[in-house]
Amino acid sequence: MFKIPPVSAARLPELLRAMPKAELHIHIEGSLEPELIFALAQRNGLQLPYASVAELRSAYAFCNLQSFLDIYYAGASVLRHEQDFYDLAHAYLARAARDRVLHAEIFFDPQTHTARGVAIETVIDGLHRACAEARTGLGISATLILCFLRHLSEKAAFETLEQAEPLLDKIVGVGLDSSEQGHPPEKFARVFARCRERGLHLVAHAGEEGPPAYIWSALDVLRVERIDHGVQAVHDAALMQRLAHQRIALTVCPLSNQKLCVFPSLAQHNLGRLLDAGLAATVNSDDPAYFGGYINENFTQVFAATGLTARQAYQLAFNSFEASFAGNADKRLWQHQLKESFERFVEHDY
Ligand code: ADE
Ligand code: ZN
Repeated sequence: MFKIPPVSAARLPELLRAMPKAELHIHIEGSLEPELIFALAQRNGLQLPYASVAELRSAYAFCNLQSFLDIYYAGASVLRHEQDFYDLAHAYLARAARDRVLHAEIFFDPQTHTARGVAIETVIDGLHRACAEARTGLGISATLILCFLRHLSEKAAFETLEQAEPLLDKIVGVGLDSSEQGHPPEKFARVFARCRERGLHLVAHAGEEGPPAYIWSALDVLRVERIDHGVQAVHDAALMQRLAHQRIALTVCPLSNQKLCVFPSLAQHNLGRLLDAGLAATVNSDDPAYFGGYINENFTQVFAATGLTARQAYQLAFNSFEASFAGNADKRLWQHQLKESFERFVEHDY
């Protein structure tokens, strides 16, 4: 890494906002803002159990993952038509582009929609159209990762994969999300093996609230390439060594962890400790409409709360490109742009 001079705390937010980055952990249903929930409810002739945007927003008080998921799945119920999914993804991508995201790998939860009678092609076609248009329209590269809901059965996951089979050229990989505790990765060993045979990339949420053992089994049983969250790894020294040696990326989501009480406060977040131990951590927004901020807000708030440095900012952004499923030529180009953005910032600053 090239030499990065110290940047004052006052100017660090400007650097964090300006630096190019990739977002690797964003649930598209978690970017559904209350205003869009109301607009889609009206467009689709649906009645909401909230009188106003403000009343809905005031219901966003969570104390753990499950209390959030209950509200998150209810919010997603306004998504019915291909255009709804397009509008949702387009809104996220336009917002991410403003945060200097050059590349996004977007999670979606098809089972949340197919359970309500929405066809999987309605979901995937709408999201994919927004991603395809974003490359020229917004200057952002975007791909899709289909997530299986782990609170549902292995059989339901296989059925979802079967429904998605004709559309697999529109997704880059599969993931595993929803309620973690009591739903270990090994429940989905055979589905992930099938996805691997199909040539899909593999990721899984593990060690968000759940134990380090779930990270081990995500790696060894599911054979995932990245761990989503993974912050509980610090409780297992052998696991930390393995993650560091194999450069297995963790897609960390600081504001999500704060809002779901994974840490008592943002100041106690362990992102710095993960970086110090040599892990390939990245910063992401998870469900920005629910957790109070998009990716730059995650960067600026966790840096302010924990005292991370410009060198660590560079490392996090570098890691985000390195850990992406983009081609090598794109990765090197984006990392070069990252270096240039730091050089420009330093030149104008000192
Ligand atoms: N789905 C959306 N956000 C999630 C999270 N933080 N953990 C697990 N599943 C999710
Ligand atoms: Zn997540």
